[in-house]
Amino acid sequence: MPDHPAIDIESVLKEDRKFPPAAEFSRRALIKSMAELEALSRRAAEDPEGFWKECAGELFWFKPFTKVLDWNFPWVKWFVGGELNASYNCIDRHLAGPRRNKAALIWEGEPGDSRILTYQMLASEVARCANGLRSLGVKAGDLVAIYMPMVPEAVIAMLACARIGATHSVVFGGFSADALRDRINDAEAKVCITADGGWRRGQIVELKRNVDEALKEAPSVHKCVVLKRCGNHVEMRAGRDVWWDELMDAQKAVCEPVSVDSEHPLYTLYTSGTTGKPKGVVHSTAGYLLHVLMTMKWVFDIKDEDIFWCTADIGWVTGHSYTVYGPLAAGATVVMYEGAPNAPANDRFWQIIEKYRVNIFYTAPTAIRTFIKWGDEWVHKHDLSSLRLLGTVGEPINPEAWMWYHKVIGREKCPIVDTWWQTETGAILISPVPGATPTKPGSATRPLPGIAADVVTREGTSVGPNQGGFLVIKRPWPGMLRTIFHDPDRYKKQYFEQIPGVYTTGDGARCDEDGYFWIMGRVDDVINVSGHRLGTMEVESALVSHPAVAEAAAVGRPDDLKGQALVCFVTLEGRRKGDDRLREELRNHVGKEIGAFARPDTIRFTDALPKTRSGKIMRRLLRQIAAGDQALGDTTTLEDLSVLARLREDEE
Ligand code: WTA
Repeated sequence: MPDHPAIDIESVLKEDRKFPPAAEFSRRALIKSMAELEALSRRAAEDPEGFWKECAGELFWFKPFTKVLDWNFPWVKWFVGGELNASYNCIDRHLAGPRRNKAALIWEGEPGDSRILTYQMLASEVARCANGLRSLGVKAGDLVAIYMPMVPEAVIAMLACARIGATHSVVFGGFSADALRDRINDAEAKVCITADGGWRRGQIVELKRNVDEALKEAPSVHKCVVLKRCGNHVEMRAGRDVWWDELMDAQKAVCEPVSVDSEHPLYTLYTSGTTGKPKGVVHSTAGYLLHVLMTMKWVFDIKDEDIFWCTADIGWVTGHSYTVYGPLAAGATVVMYEGAPNAPANDRFWQIIEKYRVNIFYTAPTAIRTFIKWGDEWVHKHDLSSLRLLGTVGEPINPEAWMWYHKVIGREKCPIVDTWWQTETGAILISPVPGATPTKPGSATRPLPGIAADVVTREGTSVGPNQGGFLVIKRPWPGMLRTIFHDPDRYKKQYFEQIPGVYTTGDGARCDEDGYFWIMGRVDDVINVSGHRLGTMEVESALVSHPAVAEAAAVGRPDDLKGQALVCFVTLEGRRKGDDRLREELRNHVGKEIGAFARPDTIRFTDALPKTRSGKIMRRLLRQIAAGDQALGDTTTLEDLSVLARLREDEE
């Protein structure tokens, strides 16, 4: 028995492969060795405030701060008394030198149209938009909802808000009218910015129609700006709706940035909790911006000549931090793509990488597993030799997918940064530093400098190496959320009262003998089978390592004998059909990989898994289906509702 019997999760994933960074990569990297990284981490641990103060020199301040940190648990202020502007930091400061004529945004539309905006062009567009918003009555402190496709105007709108001190609340364009309405109402947005539509797999997503529906019950919005993207017919309501072009064409291309306090809310972004309504996570200006900028350097090793592509939609935090604020604060060139990875064919991403000679590619494990399923031939049609660094985010990456990414996309040359973070953390907290950290497939490796991560028991005691527990952060960091909009109590309860004295992430993890973190998924995705608590991810990883399996989701079903029985939903490679023989084979396979106790009780073959629009498997729904529940509760975040019906039909 382990020394700490209170541990909640048993970790069974075993992975012994280790990949040191290539000497060639390290030589040119911003952080070149483990010694250099460790010195930085040591410095940050010994004097966190001095460390972050030094980093803060990377931002452009209108007024210097007087105090680095004000920590009144659990309320935090960073860079107290300072003033700055996020759009100034992302644009204007690059205009004085050669970056002025550099591409800030390389945009590719789904139908194949494209646009490039230099930093100077972006400056003019943002200024026009900022003046346009002002003309609609938007002031510093107001909230603006943005419900847009992945087009440059989405970025322009965000930066324009920041320019005049308005707080934006981007709602992912895949959300329904109801979800949009709830978010607008919670934020009490004054203005909504949208488009007639956006392209998705050749179809028009009718955004304006959803907005019209949402605004029927969203009284705070008095103006709606509509970008013409698809040319589909939309109703324009007199007095409320204005066309983007008409509004912006009338504006001057200069706009003085508003100097805001360090703690001024740059944006709110809604994220789902385990229960209840979505939470509006509030991010600050200075701390957030500094943290995303530093991680662009540490994690993405960003250089002036790089072309950086983060595939996340602007509607998620990853799009905020690593398509907009991080790369632009760093003066980088970012690629932005409007559509689906299989439009018009399964090689669209590889085609884009080849077309623009992308150097750094950042995507989600769920996408990687999809690419594996589609087959290597799509990749091999293209020259991906420009790639020098790969990243993942959003969920644990199973070692099989990691190896595929490494071999097929990275040609065994590109380091992989498996970046762990959350909407709430603002920027990456745990990740390899590519020129320094040897990677192990499936591990996000170590906390970045200045991040005090630990794995603890429910009581807050650190557990030993290789013992599962709760992932917590013990000291404040600049990019952390400041509160939940309108609900400070929930902020306190959810993040700071579950385990005494620390920030609780809600994830389970273990730390190995090298100090590497292995994220085991959400604590609520834990299954307890016969007294063995398993991270669902570990069972899934075992299943996916079987050649027949494309994707798998494991959930618990109440079971009198075992506490919980293990039910696995499995999609198969290619056109393979599942049968009893394969079922038995998969059970044995998991038993062999993990141990007999982890042998799934039920394997269900299905042609698709229910996922959120951001690609996360909705285990709650699967748990309910596994338990035979008829009422499935809130399904508004589900990408494809028909998956549910089909899953039910498949019931044994
Ligand atoms: C999970 C996305 C393992 C984790 C930036 C976290 C990960 C949640 C990783 C946050 C990773 C994110 N390895 N798990 N590299 N990155 N997660 O708020 O469970 O959409 O708590 O933020 O995703 O998801 P969110």
